[in-house]
Amino acid sequence: MFRFETAGESHGECLVATVTGLPSGVPIAAEAIDRELWRRQQGFGRGGRMKIETDRAHIVSGVRHSKTIGSPVAMIIDNADWKNWTETLPVEDYEGSEEKKKPVSRPRPGHADLAGAIKYDFPDARYILERASARETAARVAVGALAKALLAELGIEVLSHVIAVGEARLNRAAQWEELVALSKRDEVLLGCVDREAEQRMKEVVDQAYRTGDTVGGVFEVVAHGVPAGLGSHVTWDTRLDGRLAQAIVSMQAVKGVEVGFAADGAASFGSKVQDTIHYNKGERHFHRGANRAGGLEGGMTNGEDIIVRGLLKPISTLRRPLESVDLTTREPALAAYERSDVAVVPAAGVIGEAMVAIVLASAAIEKFGGDSLREMKRNYKGYLDQVRNF
Ligand SMILES: Cc1cc2nc3c(=O)[nH]c(=O)nc-3n(C[C@H](O)[C@H](O)[C@H](O)COP(=O)(O)O)c2cc1C
Repeated sequence: MFRFETAGESHGECLVATVTGLPSGVPIAAEAIDRELWRRQQGFGRGGRMKIETDRAHIVSGVRHSKTIGSPVAMIIDNADWKNWTETLPVEDYEGSEEKKKPVSRPRPGHADLAGAIKYDFPDARYILERASARETAARVAVGALAKALLAELGIEVLSHVIAVGEARLNRAAQWEELVALSKRDEVLLGCVDREAEQRMKEVVDQAYRTGDTVGGVFEVVAHGVPAGLGSHVTWDTRLDGRLAQAIVSMQAVKGVEVGFAADGAASFGSKVQDTIHYNKGERHFHRGANRAGGLEGGMTNGEDIIVRGLLKPISTLRRPLESVDLTTREPALAAYERSDVAVVPAAGVIGEAMVAIVLASAAIEKFGGDSLREMKRNYKGYLDQVRNF
């Protein structure tokens, strides 16, 4: 079983990720992990924090001579901002620490602040937002990079793009090659494959900046080269569509998920929605007339590209704060403001890639097993031969 955990507070010393279940022999390049971390930090609309941090994953176990060895992989990502917070968030208390605290006593609507302070019994929301913060997703992206390294060995790739920022939408389908080109860009504006649509998206973010507001959007994750048969129809928790949905909605600020063209489908007749089945006798290969199902039927991959979208709400911290209540006085007060992002849709796309890669790597390990990559590839090849001869 591929499993991972993350630890770390937004302004703590570092983020930590541990991963178990990777077979031995998976090639791991630190550069590839750091590139994913860099991609997560990009996009027009990010706040000052991303200028402070240059994320790098420091692998401390489970990888030797650039390959996994089958033991747990542990990674550390330092927080450069920690040096400004050592007195505010010390591990060990000290005399006079009370004055150095930065309490958040006016909870932000839409954030974890109020529910978390009530639940964990803190007089203010500082410790809550430290962990609820999407800084944690840097660790997920590092884990996702390991999952991607395994998937690449099976010929599976996972990429993303932005299809909406506020009301500005991409009004056409994107080709896989466009996503590949997008992932190679060294300057990221809003992560859209279409420059004209991207400019319209930028205008929406500009407007949010001008008015002290924030804006959300929609990202689309595509997995390419996926064989038919990952996941299963037999039990609720083995259905891959459900597992992907959980992975995407577990992301901070994601409030909805769409598998394939679900929203369009719900508004159409069945004859316009289901993907017709065809067979290429020469290539001995089933294929579809369209991919409106997003590569998933009955909780299983059907051999088409997986398409999953995440619907991201606007960021909760507003420069023009909303009404709240002061937790100390219980009087009406405007919500706290702390340096914050204005729009994060491209970054969310990169995090979404990581989450999809983690779910797919997990499903692939379950299906093809193996303690070493060599064993897993042998099993995988055997399965592909079986499918070809079906
Ligand atoms: C990449 C990314 C960056 C984010 N940056 C911020 C931010 O700067 N300020 C903020 O208030 N929320 C930010 N969020 C959203 C919050 O983390 C999230 O809204 C909060 O933890 C509450 O959880 P929920 O929205 O999932 O209910 C970000 C989310 C993502 C995915």
